[in-house]
Amino acid sequence: MPQKPRIWVSRRLSDNALARARRDYDAIVNEDDRVYSADEIVAMSGNVDAILACHSEIFDADVVARLAPGLKIIANHSVGVDHCDLEALAGRGIVVTNTPDVLSDATAEIAMLLMLGAARRAVEGDRMVRGGEWTSWSPSFMVGKQVSGKPVGIVGMGRVGRAMAERCRGFGMTVHYHNRTRLAENLERGAIYHRTLEDLLPQVEFLSLHCPATPQTTGLIGEQALALLPPGAVLVNTARGALIRENDLIAALNTGHIAAAGLDCFAVEPGGNPGFAGFDNVFMLPHIGSATRETRDAMGFRALDNLDAFFAGAAPGDRVA
Ligand code: DGY
Repeated sequence: MPQKPRIWVSRRLSDNALARARRDYDAIVNEDDRVYSADEIVAMSGNVDAILACHSEIFDADVVARLAPGLKIIANHSVGVDHCDLEALAGRGIVVTNTPDVLSDATAEIAMLLMLGAARRAVEGDRMVRGGEWTSWSPSFMVGKQVSGKPVGIVGMGRVGRAMAERCRGFGMTVHYHNRTRLAENLERGAIYHRTLEDLLPQVEFLSLHCPATPQTTGLIGEQALALLPPGAVLVNTARGALIRENDLIAALNTGHIAAAGLDCFAVEPGGNPGFAGFDNVFMLPHIGSATRETRDAMGFRALDNLDAFFAGAAPGDRVA
């Protein structure tokens, strides 16, 4: 019987994904589920043929230059690959894959939760009831911003953006979008295309970010972009913290120009930005867009599908480098 390829599973995946990894590979699993340092990642790369990695493992140019020559593939358990220097990895001949499709619904659910929670004052309301501070009611009490029927802007109309658009249509919202290229009619489904972000922003009352973090999109939503949104707009981010200049968002929340924000991603993770903590109108979650049982299984299986294809000598379906 041929030897099974040796893989390092860098974090504790779902039980089902781990069972399959152990069945089909000689798997070293990070049972403690701690984040490995750059030096530890480099050391581990000397023991294995492949790494099944998460976005918590950083493969920057320095790490990539030091990876062991025997490492053949990094199969990411994430759709985002901004933790990987793809050019450097390609230069080393290391194949890289991701897990698109399978997390779109779960992430769109969280985007909708953040949009509703931010607009309808969920943080404030929950704290009030929980803390026994709910002592009165009147028609002017806890009035928020209605979501239904409003124009929403989606930045990045890939799979997650389109799943979000579908949910927004369920709320009767008019969907506008900005994407590098206009979608085909069957994918656009009536959404209004804006070639530039500057065209889109003044048209919408809600803005939801769904594009990857790249050098081109880093800091995309800063002072200028925020100023182009109408007063009272709501911003939602389930993509990557790097898209938003957080100090500019804090300034726009302070003036009230941005009425509320729903954030699942931050420039610094884990931890987030303590500067948002004082705002009742900022509804925050700890990067859990894809954290459902179904989606965690599907992400693990998809990463393993990519490894299976690679070690069978075929092209992995989700190759990004
Ligand atoms: C992704 O898949 O990119 C999510 O952010 C979780 O890593």
